[in-house]
Amino acid sequence: MQRASILFHRCGIDTVETLSGLDAVIFGDAAYSKDLWRGELAVSSNQVWLAEKAGEAVGFLSAGQSGLDLEIRKVGTLPVFQRQGIASTLLQHLIETNNGAERLLIDVSHTNEAALAFYERWGFARIHRRPRYYSDGSDAIVMEKGLAGGL
Ligand SMILES: CC(C)(COP(=O)(O)OP(=O)(O)OC[C@H]1O[C@@H](n2cnc3c(N)ncnc32)[C@H](O)[C@@H]1OP(=O)(O)O)[C@@H](O)C(=O)NCCC(=O)NCCS
Repeated sequence: MQRASILFHRCGIDTVETLSGLDAVIFGDAAYSKDLWRGELAVSSNQVWLAEKAGEAVGFLSAGQSGLDLEIRKVGTLPVFQRQGIASTLLQHLIETNNGAERLLIDVSHTNEAALAFYERWGFARIHRRPRYYSDGSDAIVMEKGLAGGL
C-alpha cells in the first residue's frame, strides 16, 4: 500500500525490533517493552501499521477494536519527519480499511498539545476528562470521531 511517497504495511511479529526502536525514539520513557509489543501484535483484533519513507521506518499507528469502537493506542512519527503528513496518512488508512467500527477513540494527555491539535484537525471531539490519569499526573482527554454509519 502506497500513498504519495509513503509506503505502509501491517505489522506482524517480525516487526517487533523496528517498532520498539521507533517507539523508543518517539516516546522515550513511555515506550512499550518488546514483550508488550509482542502481546499487541498477537491479538488478531489489533492492527499496527508502519509507515516507511525512502526505505526508512518513520512512524507507526497502533489500534484495537472492541465491538463498535476502534481505539487508537499510539500514533507516532519520528521527530525529523513530523509535520509532513505521516500520521495523517496512517490515520486515513486506518479509517479507509475500517471493518465495522462506528467510532474512533483516543486518550491524550492534556499537556500533549501536538497530539490534541492533530486529533482536532482530524475532527475528533473532546468527550471526557480523566483527572490524573497518567503517571506524570496529567489528565487524559478522551476524544472521539464518528465513522461511516456511526454517531
Ligand atoms: C502527534 C503526532 C503523531 C503528529 O504526527 P505528524 O506526522 O507530525 O502529523 P501530521 O503531519 O499528519 O499533522 C497533521 C496536522 O495535525 C496538526 N499538528 C500535528 N502536529 C502538530 C503540532 N506539533 N502543533 C500543532 N499542530 C500539529 C496540524 O494541523 C497538522 O497539519 P499541518 O502540518 O498542515 O499544519 C507527532 O507529533 C508525534 O509523533 N508526537 C509524539 C508522540 C505522540 O504524542 N503521539 C500522540 C499520542 S499517542
